[in-house]
Amino acid sequence: MASPILVTGGTGTLGRHVVPLLREAGRDVRVLSRRGREPADGVEYVTGDLLKNEGIEEAIGAAGIVVHLAGGAKGDDEAARNLVRAAARAGVQHLVFISVIGSDRVPLSWLKTQSDAEQAVIDSGVPWTIQRAAQFHDLVLKAVQSMAKFPVVPNPGGLRFQPVDARDVAARIAGLVLGEPAGRVPDLAGPKVYGMDELVRGYLGARGRRRPMMPVRIPGKAGRAYRAGDNLALDGADHGTRTWEDFLDERLGQAGSTRAPAHSLSPGSG
Ligand SMILES: NC(=O)c1ccc[n+]([C@@H]2O[C@H](COP(=O)([O-])OP(=O)(O)OC[C@H]3O[C@@H](n4cnc5c(N)ncnc54)[C@H](OP(=O)(O)O)[C@@H]3O)[C@@H](O)[C@H]2O)c1
Repeated sequence: MASPILVTGGTGTLGRHVVPLLREAGRDVRVLSRRGREPADGVEYVTGDLLKNEGIEEAIGAAGIVVHLAGGAKGDDEAARNLVRAAARAGVQHLVFISVIGSDRVPLSWLKTQSDAEQAVIDSGVPWTIQRAAQFHDLVLKAVQSMAKFPVVPNPGGLRFQPVDARDVAARIAGLVLGEPAGRVPDLAGPKVYGMDELVRGYLGARGRRRPMMPVRIPGKAGRAYRAGDNLALDGADHGTRTWEDFLDERLGQAGSTRAPAHSLSPGSG
């Protein structure tokens, strides 16, 4: 019988979609979570904390494959180092890691932790696969919901995203997990590039709201990197199938048109 697959982050936005795909493929799955849960549908939950370096060895056990999808606001580099050390000691045969497009190009401290986590995986001695993905629709939705709370919505000029659906990323990850270690595979982004203003307008339109928009400028090196598109997928990337509008339709139950009404405080800004 095949050994179970350990999924860190199996309770998260991405992991929640990956776990059932692995189950559909007939594999037993173990999820590492900071909170205990009862086993269900062939999925076992093991309590542990990657940042505190607790419960990792027990979670890996005899798992031959580890899928690292856990992430937080801080310390993802340290968490990855703790995981890969234990994986190497346990003789894991395949380590699959999700990272972020632009992790080595956009100078933000959180992205640096993703890049350092990638390096920990590469240096681990465990055969590995790294998938970089664009921002998930769910994350973009949280961001635009926060922005839309302002009576005048800030519109960071030149900021563009290629949001991807977590289900498209999950399908890719499941395929990688069930295959051989593949090293760094092509990035996965959404099917379209949007200005931040278009993403906000799509959301506002889907909610039947209007807001004026005000151009703002992101300062510093990170601002320059974003305006240069360093967070976008380069040539050769793969693309998911579901658009931002599809996601808004499903999530909010209405058409999320980027042509929805919005007006700008200055011509051309929104
Ligand atoms: N969100 C995006 O747009 C995006 C884009 C590209 C790549 N990624 C990468 O994809 C990964 C997953 O993102 P997501 O949006 O699915 O995250 P999420 O919804 O915020 O879920 C985070 C997951 O990480 C687990 N976790 C957090 N801290 C942990 C710790 N110290 N020890 C063990 N588990 C911990 C959580 O498990 P419990 O709460 O059950 O402990 C949860 O399952 C992240 O590494 C992120 O960098 C995300």
